Amino acid sequence: MQGWIVPPPKTPTKSEADFERERLEKVSSLTRHGYLKSDRVRQALLKVHREEFIPPEYRDYAYLEVPLPLPGEHATISCPHSYPLFYEPLGLDEGHRFLEVGLGSGYGAAVAREVVGAEGLVVAMEIDPVTFAFAKRNLQTAGYDDVVLVNADGGLGHPELAPFDRVSVTAACHEIPPPLIAQLGRDGKLIAPVTEHGTQVLVLLEKVDDTLQKTVLCEVLYMSLRGTYGAVTANGI
Ligand SMILES: C[S@@+](CC[C@H](N)C(=O)[O-])C[C@H]1O[C@@H](n2cnc3c(N)ncnc32)[C@H](O)[C@@H]1O
Repeated sequence: MQGWIVPPPKTPTKSEADFERERLEKVSSLTRHGYLKSDRVRQALLKVHREEFIPPEYRDYAYLEVPLPLPGEHATISCPHSYPLFYEPLGLDEGHRFLEVGLGSGYGAAVAREVVGAEGLVVAMEIDPVTFAFAKRNLQTAGYDDVVLVNADGGLGHPELAPFDRVSVTAACHEIPPPLIAQLGRDGKLIAPVTEHGTQVLVLLEKVDDTLQKTVLCEVLYMSLRGTYGAVTANGI
C-alpha cells in the first residue's frame, strides 16, 4: 500500500473493553475534527465493532488511522475516518437504497446498514472472490444477514436492484463508471475517489433534476478500481 505505513502483523492481545474504549475515543475524535456530524452515522460507528472485520494479525490496530490488509489481492479496510468522510457528504440516511462498490472487509456495509435502517437497502459488491468470502463471513458473524452481497465487477453496478439513492465507490477510478451514474435515482448522490491530473481527489456527484453537479471535496489515497472501468498497475495502485 504505497503512501501508507502498515504496522507489523502481531498476535492480538486487546480485550473487548480495550476496543470499546478505543471506539468511543475514535468517535469523539472524528466529531472534534469535523468528520462526523450526523447522529445516525455517529450511532452506527458506535454500534459496529470494527475489530470484528479485521484479520486477527491486524486486529489490535483496528482504530489506528491506517488502512489494514485483508485476504485477497490488494484489498484493505479503509482508515476509520474514511467512513464519515464518504457518508456525511452523501447525506446517507434512514430509508436510503445504498450501493457500495468495494465491499472489502464488510465494515462499511455494516455501518451503512445501521444508517439506512430497516426501511433502507444495502447492496455491496466485491470483485475479489477471496475478499468477498472474508466479508461475507464477517457480516454473518456480526449478524448482518440482510445486506445484499454481490461477488462481481461493481463498476457495472447492480441493475437488478437499481435505482440507488446513494452510491459509494471505495476504490479509485479514472472516470466514474457510467453504469453507476445511470443507476443513480432522482436526487441521487455518488461519491468516489477519482484520479485527475495524477492526483486522487474525492468527488461528489449529485443528480439534480436531469443534470449532474460535481464537487471536488479533498485529496485522498485509495487502491485502484479493478474490472471494466479499472486501471490497475502491477502493484495494484
Ligand atoms: C478500500 S477497499 C474497501 C474497503 C471497504 N469498504 C471496507 O469497509 O472494508 C476497496 C475494495 O474495492 C475492491 N474492488 C476493486 N475494484 C472493484 C470492482 N470493480 N468491483 C468491486 N470491488 C472492487 C477491492 O478488491 C477492495 O476490496
